[in-house]
Amino acid sequence: MQSVSRRQFLKKSGEAGLAACATSALGRMGFAQSAAPTRVVIDSSRQISAIDPHVYGSFLEHLGRAIYEGVYDPQSKFADANGFRTDVMAEVKQLGVPIIRYPGGNFVSGYHWLNGVGPKKDRPTVLDRAWDTLETNQFGTNEFITWAREVGAEPLFGLNFGTGTAEDAAALVEYCNVARGTKWSELRRSHGYEQPHNVKYWCVGNEMDGPWQIGHIPAREYGLKAADAARQMRAVDPTVKLVACGSSGPFMPTYIEWDRTVLEECYDDVDGISLHRYWGNTEETNHDSQIYMAMNLAMDRQIEEIIAVTDSVRAQKRSGKQLFLSFDEWNVWYRARSGDDVDGHGKSAPHLLEEQYNLEDALLVGGLANSLMRHADRVKLACLAQLVNVIAPIMTNENGVLRQTIYYPYAWALKYAHGTALSLAPEGPGYEVASLGRPIESIGLPVPGFGEVPWLDVTAVWNEEKKAATLFVLNRDLHNEREMEIVWRDLTPSAVTTFETMTGPDLKAINTFADPKRVVPQTLEKPKTGSTMTVKLPARSYSVLSMTV
Ligand code: AHR
Repeated sequence: MQSVSRRQFLKKSGEAGLAACATSALGRMGFAQSAAPTRVVIDSSRQISAIDPHVYGSFLEHLGRAIYEGVYDPQSKFADANGFRTDVMAEVKQLGVPIIRYPGGNFVSGYHWLNGVGPKKDRPTVLDRAWDTLETNQFGTNEFITWAREVGAEPLFGLNFGTGTAEDAAALVEYCNVARGTKWSELRRSHGYEQPHNVKYWCVGNEMDGPWQIGHIPAREYGLKAADAARQMRAVDPTVKLVACGSSGPFMPTYIEWDRTVLEECYDDVDGISLHRYWGNTEETNHDSQIYMAMNLAMDRQIEEIIAVTDSVRAQKRSGKQLFLSFDEWNVWYRARSGDDVDGHGKSAPHLLEEQYNLEDALLVGGLANSLMRHADRVKLACLAQLVNVIAPIMTNENGVLRQTIYYPYAWALKYAHGTALSLAPEGPGYEVASLGRPIESIGLPVPGFGEVPWLDVTAVWNEEKKAATLFVLNRDLHNEREMEIVWRDLTPSAVTTFETMTGPDLKAINTFADPKRVVPQTLEKPKTGSTMTVKLPARSYSVLSMTV
């Protein structure tokens, strides 16, 4: 077992700073009374960047019921010949998830990939020390690749940087990507996988800054190991794309310092750096949903801070190369994150991290998707954490699947946010969030507020191929419908193809297997098209408005 869990570590480190933080915990929050519309000017030539489809990836960890029961369940009435749940595969396929991170997460830092390949009868059952769970290894590298290809997703492989060596990492690349004629490629072929898997994207470890992580090491040491592993991996396959482990989040005492030190050692050898973050309506927001609706601005801030440190190392090195950001764990997660929710007690497929998502969580997830879109120039990869049963949009029981509330904003991003993110400068009223309280994972450092927060958070995507423009709008105002005036500069829409919203009277409403359609998208009356359009956004809503020109 780990000597210190993530939660214990944060609790301990937080005690010192807590008193200081408490005095400035919640700042003044005033509400601008203006009912004036928000004005958005759209000009298709004002482009941020093409949105990389990998930005709407997801994540599957050997954790709780994500893999076992969720994805792989030979006993299920839905199982195919491989033991994969066909109902879950159909959902994931329909969503069109482009890339899926696997096999962890904290799990990966104690995972021996060799235990999960070869004849199933010979695979050992081991204790996963990250989540205190029995791991049967009946699902491993080859099963994941087979499953991912069937659902149309690309694999993003996590590497064990806890108990694993740089040589182990290179061996896994060889097992997956070399065609034939070497020890590890021949092993794959002997396992029945004649063709190489060609795995392009790799995470060089997971949250190695965290004392809760198996094999946690200081930044300099990790940076050196990452550089060495990257060179060994590229010697095996020069085409791989490698993501170094960035900070686990701004709550870490080593935030930014970790990223800087790591990149000083491995900047030249990697292609991207990771960011992680989970949000919640907690003490940080004073359990105030109005403040909670502004929390995607914390994602904007984190992205901009990591861009700043990454580019400062680049300047220091006079490097011609720019790294991309991989926000490869992001979601709401604050309820199921202590006690039995994170401890498997040595059982197989226990119920862990089974967060139930409500309407307000879905609205924030929509806002977070907006934040990723408006940073399309640097965030080229991201993963909603996670996909099935564990902090997930999709839940399963023996009779089928359930779409949680957060499924819908995620599905809209996957369906409509293809093309180029446009640069917008919405003008409109807002409200004040002067400071925030103590984050759930805080070490007691004060957290700045956001100042004036716009009622409407708007992003726009232009799809040149389809001649379609799509707007994604979070109306943060919990009490009032808000109006948006859209002024088109160089295009005039001829038809509104979609206008849907997630809203409802109860911010805490959830979907359950007994009542699965309580929080689902509703169709809104389509606005009249023209060079200036007026649109009404319901109170407490996240909406998608798509038009063709
Ligand atoms: O996604 C759940 C856990 O959160 C992951 O295993 C870990 O990387 C993070 O702390």
